[in-house]
Amino acid sequence: MSIGKGILEIKNLSKSFIVDNNPLQVLNDINITIPPGNFVSIIGSSGCGKTTLLRIVLGLETNYEGDALIDGEQIEGPGINRGIVFQDHRLLPWLTVGENVAFGLDGKSRKETEVIVDEHLKLVGLNGFKSAYPCQLSGGMAQRAAIARALANKPEILLLDEPLGSLDAMTRMHMQKELERIWLFEKITMILVTHDVEEAIYLGDKVVIMSSRPGVIKKIIDIPFTRPRDRSSYEFMQIKSEILEEFHLGVEHPFIYSI
Ligand SMILES: Nc1ncnc2c1ncn2[C@@H]1O[C@H](COP(=O)(O)OP(=O)(O)OP(=O)(O)O)[C@@H](O)[C@H]1O
Ligand SMILES: [Mg+2]
Repeated sequence: MSIGKGILEIKNLSKSFIVDNNPLQVLNDINITIPPGNFVSIIGSSGCGKTTLLRIVLGLETNYEGDALIDGEQIEGPGINRGIVFQDHRLLPWLTVGENVAFGLDGKSRKETEVIVDEHLKLVGLNGFKSAYPCQLSGGMAQRAAIARALANKPEILLLDEPLGSLDAMTRMHMQKELERIWLFEKITMILVTHDVEEAIYLGDKVVIMSSRPGVIKKIIDIPFTRPRDRSSYEFMQIKSEILEEFHLGVEHPFIYSI
């Protein structure tokens, strides 16, 4: 893996949609530079433009103001240097897990494809399930398969749009550890959108806090802790309450108790 490739720069980026014949500003003056190999968590209320931002980085939205650059080049469309995992696994139900992982691997020989598929199923802990169909997997396993599919093309940047959002609390924590393990192994950039403050802190080198529409970056918090992180440590809790405070969910708003 070539450290130094895949630097993402978002500069003065604004994005509007036309809704009901009126412009709806969704993102306003977003500026962030993400060096290769970083893990960045993005957190913000529903509708603040997180998915839109990921779609711009993926190359699915090209009509915006400002710059979205990878290694200094404007993003002009999708490319194999970027992958995405969504909240729902989006595996093709008529293909096996192995065939799903192989799905986007164009131009590879049969043997090469098999090696890549096996390698990535092992990486996500799904060896033994290559011939299974998506309906035979649990929610966490299906998300593992989706991660394997996204990684099989060897992206420099993996975009994760609430990939663990539909999992139960325990499976989710387990998958967070798995995601961290995969990230440490692959040494690629990961950009995770989540609504879970603890998940954002547990995984991120940085947590980007976005405000409501139009989405602006309100704050970027560096997470200084070494890994693996202790969710119950005092320092972790302190950062968690700092972030909750940004969403007016801190403990010093006890008005509901005085009614
Ligand atoms: N193609 C589109 N056309 C018109 N409006 C859109 C389009 N895509 C998104 N929007 C609007 O842009 C805003 C931001 O949407 P986006 O999906 O980026 O939010 P989000 O932060 O990901 O929200 P959530 O946390 O609920 O997933 C919303 O008001 C949405 O209605
Ligand atoms: Mg979204």
